[in-house]
This record gives sequence, structure tokens and C-alpha cells, in this order.
Amino acid sequence: MLKIAILISGGGSNMESILDSIDSNYLNNIEVVKIISDREANGIEKAKQRGFDTLILDRKIYKGTLSEKILEALENKVDYIVLAGFLSIIDEKLIKKFENKIINIHPSLIPSFCGEGMYGMNVHRAAIKKGVKFSGCTVHFVNEEVDAGAIIKQEVVEVLDDDTPEVLQKRILKKEHSILPDVLKLLSEKEIIVVDDKVKIL
Ligand code: GRF
Repeated sequence: MLKIAILISGGGSNMESILDSIDSNYLNNIEVVKIISDREANGIEKAKQRGFDTLILDRKIYKGTLSEKILEALENKVDYIVLAGFLSIIDEKLIKKFENKIINIHPSLIPSFCGEGMYGMNVHRAAIKKGVKFSGCTVHFVNEEVDAGAIIKQEVVEVLDDDTPEVLQKRILKKEHSILPDVLKLLSEKEIIVVDDKVKIL
């Protein structure tokens, strides 16, 4: 059994895609040990209702010590940490302790439209402004640089002429809901290593 924690900040639809994939038995050797949010989030209510162990570490209260608190809650308890729409930045110490054991989902094809300030609707606004014909989503390992860790999986989504950021976001989110469980399945079934900043599946 691969033990994971899911970290969220918002609606938690990506979290739900993981929980649903466990319920449907698509993910049959993953156990969600804890669900943490850095603010009062709708997703945390959903997690509670589904009977999961939840924890709110308010980013305003914990400011500089948020990562420390996360480490305290998860060290020696989980194999992987999944950032599923988690908006706070994780610090170096936590990343070192969970080297290549923290994954993040980002709603674009990295390295496009990522990094500082590129979250939520900003990402889709930038993609439409640039006029790209394709966008998508990426699941990657987390390293010290924002959205820069080794890429595990990407999916492409076509950008249509009359897309608004909201419409594009919806279409990409749908893909996110399959790519994230797919990556967890991979992590639970295969050995994945990072060589020269690139993911190798053994
Ligand atoms: C998703 O688009 C994810 O890629 C990004 O934040 C959003 C979270 O959505 N990192 P939800 O809370 O999972 O619905």
C-alpha cells in the first residue's frame, strides 16, 4: 500500500478525482492518510464528509512555519505528498525530506505558463493571450524552483478560437482529473527515478 497525503487550497476537484479512483478500485493500492489545506477550503469539507482525516494549517497563522507543520504532520507517515491545487510554496527542508516524493499538478504544458504568479485563471488567461493552439496539464515532481521539477506526465488540450479562460480551464480540468490518478497508479506500480532532471520509468 502506497500511503499518500493530499494538500489542497480550493474546491478540491483533483482531490476528489483521486478519492473517486480509489472508490472505483482503479487505484487499488493507494491509501489516503491525511488531507491538509492551508485555508478554509470547500475541498476540506468534502474530505471530512467522506470520512478522511483532515487538517487545516492556516497560512496566515503559520506563515513562515507552514512547511515545518506539514512535515510534523506527515513525516514517517506517508510515502508521497500530492499537491492538488495547493497554493502555498513548500520550503527546501520539506522538499529535501521528501525528495522526488512530492508531486504537483499544473494546468498548462510546462515550461509554458508556469512559475511565480502562474496559478488559477492567470494560466489560462496567459495561454489565450499568447494565442497558443494547444495547452494542457502537467504532473511533475516538486523541487526548489516553482513548477520546475522533473515532468512525470502531460496531456494536451486544444485551445479553440472562441475559448474564454473559464471555458479552457474547464476543459483542462477534465483532463487533470484523469492524469493525476494515472500518475498515482504509475507511482504505485512502477519504480520511478529521476536522472538528469528527467523522469525514468523502470
Ligand atoms: C487545478 O487547475 C490545478 O491544476 C491547479 O489548481 C487547480 C485546483 O483545482 N494547481 P481543484 O481545487 O482541484 O478543483
